[in-house]
Parts: sequence; C-alpha cells; structure tokens
Amino acid sequence: MNKQPIEGFSKLSKEGKIEWLVNEFLQGEKKAIETLKQYWNTDEALQQLHDEFSENTVSNFYMPFGLAPNFLVNNRLYTIPMAIEESSVVAAASKAAKFWLNRGGFKTEVLSTTKLGHVHFMFTGNKEKLTSFFEKHLREKLIEETNEITHNMRARGGGIMSIELVDKTDELEDYFQLKASFETVDSMGANFINSCLEQFAKTMENEMAMATEFTAEEKDSLQVVMCILSNYTPDCIVRAEVSCAVEELKDGNVLAEEFVEKFTRAVRIAEIEPYRATTHNKGIMNGCDAVVIATGNDFRAVEACAHTYAAKDGKYSSLTHCEVKDGIFRFWIDLPIAVGTIGGLTSLHPLVKLALDILGKPNAKELMGFIAVAGLAQNFGALRSLVTTGIQKGHMKMHLMNILNQLEATEEEKHYFVNYFKDKTVSHHAVINEFCRLRGVNHPNEIKKAN
Ligand code: MEV
Repeated sequence: MNKQPIEGFSKLSKEGKIEWLVNEFLQGEKKAIETLKQYWNTDEALQQLHDEFSENTVSNFYMPFGLAPNFLVNNRLYTIPMAIEESSVVAAASKAAKFWLNRGGFKTEVLSTTKLGHVHFMFTGNKEKLTSFFEKHLREKLIEETNEITHNMRARGGGIMSIELVDKTDELEDYFQLKASFETVDSMGANFINSCLEQFAKTMENEMAMATEFTAEEKDSLQVVMCILSNYTPDCIVRAEVSCAVEELKDGNVLAEEFVEKFTRAVRIAEIEPYRATTHNKGIMNGCDAVVIATGNDFRAVEACAHTYAAKDGKYSSLTHCEVKDGIFRFWIDLPIAVGTIGGLTSLHPLVKLALDILGKPNAKELMGFIAVAGLAQNFGALRSLVTTGIQKGHMKMHLMNILNQLEATEEEKHYFVNYFKDKTVSHHAVINEFCRLRGVNHPNEIKKAN
C-alpha cells in the first residue's frame, strides 16, 4: 500500500514518533523499539539535553570517543580527543604523534582569523550612484545600526572589520554584494555574523528608500536575495608543521633518504593529481573531523571550507606540502578552519566540555592548531604506511576486530585470531573460514552465539 504523508509529526511524543515509524516503515517490528531504546540514557535530564540538540529525536547515535596521546604541540604534551567511527584513525594519529615526539613535535601558528559574510542583492540602477552612496553614507550607517548586535563582541575584542560593496554584474546581471569581514574571537560566530548581515540588509533597504539621489525606479529595483555567512574562510587560517633532519627519518628497514624520496613523491602526486588529492585530503579530514566533532564544532563547515581551499588555485590539490632544504625535511598544512570554543555545543554537551578540558581549555586559535595537527599527523601516518608497508596491513588488523565483533567472537577467540594473523594477510574470507573451522561448522550461517 502506498504510504501517506504525515501531518504534525514533530508534535508527536517520542514514543508516538517511534510507534508511527515502526508501523509505517518497519512492518510493526517491535525489536526496532528495543534497538532505539537501548541507546536512551537512563539519566533523564541528560537524555533530554541530547533530545533538544536537534529535532524529531528518537534515540542517540553513539560514536567512539578515543584518545590519541603523546602529541607534542608547541613544546607542550597533549592528548587529543577524537570522535570517529573509522578504525585505524586514532591508532594512526597516536603512532604519528609518537614518531614526532622525539623529533621536535608539531608547531602551529594561526596566520589570520577573519571570517566573511555577504548580503547578496540585485540592483538595476546607476552603479556609480550606488558606489558613491555606499562610500559616502551607507557603510557608516551599516556599522552604526549594528552597534547593539556587535556590542558584546566588540567588548571581547571582535566585531565587524570591514564592509565593501562588490560589483558582480560581469558574472551575473544586476548582482552586487555587501561583503563584510568579521572577527569573532573564541566563538565560531555564525549567529553573530548572520544577525549583522540581516541588519545590514534592513538598513540598506531603509536608507535607499529615503535617499534622494536615487529615482523611484532605482529604489524599486533593489532586491535583497539573501544574507548569509560564507563557510569559505581563506583568511581564518592555521599552519601546522613538523620538521627534522633527513637522517632522523630512518623508518624500520627503510633508509632515511629513500623514505623522504618516496614520501615527497607521494605528496607531489597529491599536489598534481586530483584523484589522489581527494583521497589524500580525505585522510587529512579523518583527523581534523574527529577533533572537530569531539570539540562540538561543525564538521560540515570545516569540510566544505577545506575542500574549497584545496581548489583555490583552479585545480583540486593537496592540503599538505613538504620540502627538503639544507638537509631538513619539512612537512606542513595550511588549513582554513572556523571553529569556536565558546557558544554552540561547547558548554552544553558534557563530552564536548570534557574534550576541551583534556586539551587544556583552548581558545579558538589553539583549537585551530590542534585540528590542523590531527590532520597533519593523520596524513603523515597514511603516507608513511602507503609508501612503505602499504595501508592494508594496519587497516586489516583493525578490520579483523570489526569482523570478529560482527561474528560475536569471544575474548579468547579474539586473542587466538590476533595471533593467527600475525604472519598472514587478513581478509574477510580468511577470517570467516578460520572462524568456521574453529567453531566446527561448514557455513557462517551455522555459527551459534557462544555462551
Ligand atoms: C582512509 O580513510 C584514508 C586513506 O585512504 C588516506 C590516504 O590514502 O592518504 C588511508
């Protein structure tokens, strides 16, 4: 039977929403109710807090919260909290941290912290009049009429940094922008920026309606399309880097020079080949996102910005770079990241608060540094494996645990399998075969839950 749309879903209770879901989409399967409820927190206040982060909430979706210790960042030792479901990421970050621990560690530097937003509008009147009106009158008025909104931010050292009128009519007929830059200090600043922009639009509409220099037709032609911050923040950027003498890079049986040559080539390939750059940068974001999520920030914004930045020169390229100069190997990332350590989830979500405490209550600039460090470490770990042992060795060891968990293996069996695969290649097929043999069955379907 065709399903009918539902009216007023959001007004149903949580139980009501689940009942509707189970009846409409899960063939009345009561087990689904248990699955959803087993993730409810017994602490009702904590559960309500999580319910209210979003809408139409029916359960919680857990993610592993892991720790990557031994990160020497700007000469201080840190443990980096990471929220991520993908196996090997935390292990690779920890391994890279340890590798650099005795080679000077990671250095970070925030290069700038400016964020941007636009009022996108259409205007068909005289451009010179518009420019002159903006320069002589409107810019000042925009600042004045947002004074109330910017008051607290200015007290914290932030606010509106600049406002320009941008003529985009050569790309889209009649299209102009008010392009504003902001300093939002320790907050991500999305609400602040959007509130300012919406006030700019109102002020511009009012001021133009009253201006004597425009004709009635010109006034009528003004149309605000939208007011919104840009998640592309190329001027809110942090650099993280590692460096050491080439001879310190000897890696197991691989000679230092050989390792550096292979590693450098791998980075060059990512710089020139978008297919590789996408995977290379995905690995970087494994590290970045895990810290962004653990610290309650918006990983979609960070992702969007990173990838636009990766394409800033007209071709999608690597976010990391390396060089060898005078016998010194240097590997670095320049990453635009707009994150906050106040506002949003940062003071609401108990694990986010804890993650920030683990990092020593960083300010936004310091957090930018940790995120970039996690991305750089991740990329170093991935490239180091890729150009030496290959990625599957480490990966499949972690994957082994996932397969064994799916098979509901006992702890004893897990020990057995870790030993068994010490000198063999892990594959799904090989694990299943050995598991069947061990349990004395011919087919995985015959595997029974161990007591
Ligand atoms: C997997 O999530 C990430 C890697 O593919 C990154 C890379 O290839 O550099 C291992």
